[in-house]
Amino acid sequence: MVVIEDIATMKAYALDIKSKGKIIGFVPTMGYFHEGHLMLMRMAKKISDHLIISIFVNPTQFEAGEDLDKYPRDMERDKNLASSAGVECIFAPSAKEMYPEDYTTYVTVENLTNRLCGVSRPHHFRGVATIVVKLFNIIEPDVAVFGKKDFQQLTVIKQMVKDLNMNVKIVGHPTVRESDGLAMSSRNVYLSLDEREKALILNKSLQHVKNLFKAGLRDASKIKESVIQMISSEKGCDIDYVEIVDPERLSPVNTIEDKAIVALAVRIGSTRLIDNIVLGEQC
Ligand code: PAJ
Repeated sequence: MVVIEDIATMKAYALDIKSKGKIIGFVPTMGYFHEGHLMLMRMAKKISDHLIISIFVNPTQFEAGEDLDKYPRDMERDKNLASSAGVECIFAPSAKEMYPEDYTTYVTVENLTNRLCGVSRPHHFRGVATIVVKLFNIIEPDVAVFGKKDFQQLTVIKQMVKDLNMNVKIVGHPTVRESDGLAMSSRNVYLSLDEREKALILNKSLQHVKNLFKAGLRDASKIKESVIQMISSEKGCDIDYVEIVDPERLSPVNTIEDKAIVALAVRIGSTRLIDNIVLGEQC
């Protein structure tokens, strides 16, 4: 496995792989791997000939005052885990390499980004879209895998690739959870033992909703109300949003006809966690 830190070498490496007729699979990450990241890598490995990942804590997707500086990092551990997942190349550039002093170009995906997480993180998806375009331009992957845990991110990337006619197939991987149901996240390390326990209410409330849906409830406001009630009953959980939206447009639905996503963001202490569930798909 090779680790490349500069753009010119990364471009030359990827071009060389492509010239051999190989399909490049790509998983962009911010590092500090957990099983969720590794599952994405294994999936990408299966559907490609050569697996490249990136590790880059992207400053432009953090709001002022967010956790950019304290975001967990462990390059040595990540290298070992990536290698064991079959990664052939890690692209790990510095912030200066990706955003030199004279940097001025940003990619904005409209509509999909001003709701859900975009309300409390108004610059987040601009940063995500920008870095993902840059990574795609440097590596030119044939296929890239993103997690459904960040389903708004996945939706935004899919729309961007379609709108900008980019030559990459975007594949979604189901949310990977701890055995007690908590969605894996690099940010879970911020939680104290007590907060970790409280965080279980996120998945519990989504499972409850799944049961309500199975029992025939289709009224989105009633479903939303029951999630809000469950989460608010847990002390120290501060709801950022609970929304029931159309999976493609991310617009709120009143009655769940076919398929809908229940998405939520909750602050537990100073940690903001997100989770979601699809209703109407293998429910
Ligand atoms: P990061 O949070 O490191 O996540 C990298 C990828 O892993 C994303 O596609 C994310 O959706 C996926 N992922 C994280 N936790 C997951 C889980 N529990 N189950 C399934 N997939 C999971 O997302 C980012 O980085 C950044 O925004 C990035 C796309 C790299 C751009 O900077």
